[in-house]
Amino acid sequence: MAGKLDLISKCIRTFPDFHTKGIPFKDIFPVLKDPKALAAVTDLFEEQVRRAYPQVDLIVGLDARGFLFGPLLAQRLGVGFAPIRKKGKLPGPTLSVAYSLEYAKAEAEMQEDAVSAGKKVLIVDDLLATGGTLYAACELIKRQKAEVLGCLVVELKYLNGSEKLQSTPVFSLIQY
Ligand code: PRP
Ligand code: MG
Repeated sequence: MAGKLDLISKCIRTFPDFHTKGIPFKDIFPVLKDPKALAAVTDLFEEQVRRAYPQVDLIVGLDARGFLFGPLLAQRLGVGFAPIRKKGKLPGPTLSVAYSLEYAKAEAEMQEDAVSAGKKVLIVDDLLATGGTLYAACELIKRQKAEVLGCLVVELKYLNGSEKLQSTPVFSLIQY
């Protein structure tokens, strides 16, 4: 496990002041450039799900960088994947929840038929910062009367982000 985490950590780059002054932006795309590092992310997520959440029915990934890891994990587990997207990107009837990012405001949307009542869901994203994005995702899933088992993220930046998620467990591969 430590070897896999090292491989992933070495691929994550920090760009100070990207988008906004004072924000140390984490660039996770180099993880995808290294097939071993990308496989390590999927391996470690898969291990955690098989250990802690074997009952999972659906992986939900968050627009945009959650889409990079979520479908790979869903396929490994043999379950489906559904997206939560930023406003205006999904056709048909949708539910929506507004949230704040570190450097912007946004609205998250999910198709009404993306998850059925009673299903057990895990949410995947690249990182947790203030927790606003994951909080909105949890709200969308709960409004559809499905159950959020937990959230899986590649890196966790500010520990107080998980406080916003209250009782929803967060599994993070790397913590800054
Ligand atoms: C980034 C990141 C997380 C979110 C974390 O998404 O990918 O989804 O911010 O921030 P929070 O915990 O403060 O909500 P962003 O929408 O900025 O960009 P993306 O479309 O590239 O994923
Ligand atoms: Mg994102």
